[in-house]
Amino acid sequence: MSAFFASDGGVGAQREEDAIKNRASDSRHARRVVEEGYNRIAQAYARLEGEIDWPRMRWLQKLVNRLEPGSSILDLGCGSGVPADVEIAKQHRVTGVDVSQTQIDFARRNVPTGCFLHGDAATVEFAADSFDAVISFYALEHIPRNEHATILRRIYKWLRAEGFLLIGMEAGEYDDVIGEWLGVPMFFSCFDPETMKHLIDEAGFGLLESAVEVQAEGSHEVPYLWLLARKRPGEKGTA
Ligand SMILES: C[S@@+](CC[C@H](N)C(=O)[O-])C[C@H]1O[C@@H](n2cnc3c(N)ncnc32)[C@H](O)[C@@H]1O
Repeated sequence: MSAFFASDGGVGAQREEDAIKNRASDSRHARRVVEEGYNRIAQAYARLEGEIDWPRMRWLQKLVNRLEPGSSILDLGCGSGVPADVEIAKQHRVTGVDVSQTQIDFARRNVPTGCFLHGDAATVEFAADSFDAVISFYALEHIPRNEHATILRRIYKWLRAEGFLLIGMEAGEYDDVIGEWLGVPMFFSCFDPETMKHLIDEAGFGLLESAVEVQAEGSHEVPYLWLLARKRPGEKGTA
């Protein structure tokens, strides 16, 4: 609990309280922008990967090669389940979470054996030791960056001993901005790659491999940070 809650409730305390309320409502606004945005652009997004394949499936293969058949994988911000969860479901059990109901509807159709939940990756609950791996591709940058450390600690708790984490996210540095993307307003927020690596380490993961790779999105080239990490034994990982 912050010092504010322990204080006597003076003017400074009120300002602090207002700031906390504003942050909370900003975060709800960010969710709404993302949810409404992806409900509208789910199909336009699906068409974005053009003739040049994105690095996503190559990184997914690095993870899948390390897993026993029948492993349990959680995909945060799963989108329509194409292509990653379709591939995962050939050998493993997949659970997906997405804040967009439209994306979840597509995912249920595209990956009938998967379990797909309409929810927020930052607040969804799973029991400790539920998964052998957690992946999140192109989604963390749509969640306020001041929540990223907490999300990583929650992932740590959900993973079994020595479980894997694979993240692909924009290699930019944005402090909660709303811009236009594929014709709709969209929220973006992320730390620079070095800070992200530090957060991964602090959450209790050992980094196995990382790289920044540029991918083509229509006429744009966008750099993405890829991080493959493994839960270090003996860490506590508190949410
Ligand atoms: C760029 S798409 C990526 C979809 C998929 N992971 C892929 O590889 O193509 C980003 C997805 O993250 C979802 N998303 C964004 N913020 C989220 C949140 N807080 N909780 C759950 N899903 C979220 C969006 O609805 C969208 O489907």
